[in-house]
Amino acid sequence: MCIIHKKYVNSVNLVNPVKKYKQMKKLTIISAILIILVSCGKKSDNGMENFTKIDSKDIEGNFIEKMADDWALITAGTAEKFNTMTASWGLIGHLWNKPVAVCFVRPQRYTFEFMEAADTFTLSFFDENYRDALNICGTLSGRDVNKVEKAGLTPLVLDTNSISFGEARMIIECRKIYADFFNPEKFIDAKIPAEIYPTNDFHKAYIGEIINVWVKK
Ligand SMILES: Cc1cc2nc3c(=O)[nH]c(=O)nc-3n(C[C@H](O)[C@H](O)[C@H](O)COP(=O)(O)O)c2cc1C
Repeated sequence: MCIIHKKYVNSVNLVNPVKKYKQMKKLTIISAILIILVSCGKKSDNGMENFTKIDSKDIEGNFIEKMADDWALITAGTAEKFNTMTASWGLIGHLWNKPVAVCFVRPQRYTFEFMEAADTFTLSFFDENYRDALNICGTLSGRDVNKVEKAGLTPLVLDTNSISFGEARMIIECRKIYADFFNPEKFIDAKIPAEIYPTNDFHKAYIGEIINVWVKK
């Protein structure tokens, strides 16, 4: 048996198996270190290293309060071209067996064009010290000024290529699954269109499946 083994080793010109095993081990360790280094480098490139992913069921706080009082930024587009605007109307819940977020955008907003073209959008929430930034994004249009620069926000490209901001404390990332305008004929309470839409600029509602929720570490 021993002779056959030796013959076999010699015939295929293999090095000592123990030596080979050690070399393989060394190579594996070096590869693992390289992979870790590369992935760390990638993370620190885009700012995502400051965020951790949570389950949508673990979102903390009252969502009515988050929208009505804290406000959010709706952002859509690509790293090359995107737009963002402040929103205080929005919903979060469970629909079609999916966790969903819904936001409402009037057609005259510059953001509307981006919401129409994009497959994804984000809702970004901030601490109170970003109130001025939210006021800027809610009163100026991306058509006229670079709001992001004016608001002092840092664009953040997420893994799925949707856009948010490094300063956000929570990012809800959504995949558009349904969108439509409110229909004036369908209002059961006629006071709402009279009060909210005197010029008939009905919001378009965008329902997004929540694909990721990120919170600041
Ligand atoms: C607190 C606040 C909440 C707002 N909520 C909404 C909203 O839910 N939907 C909407 O269409 N516009 C909303 N707006 C208005 C837009 O944010 C605003 O018109 C913005 O300048 C649009 O920017 P854009 O033209 O760059 O898209 C809100 C503004 C503020 C200040």
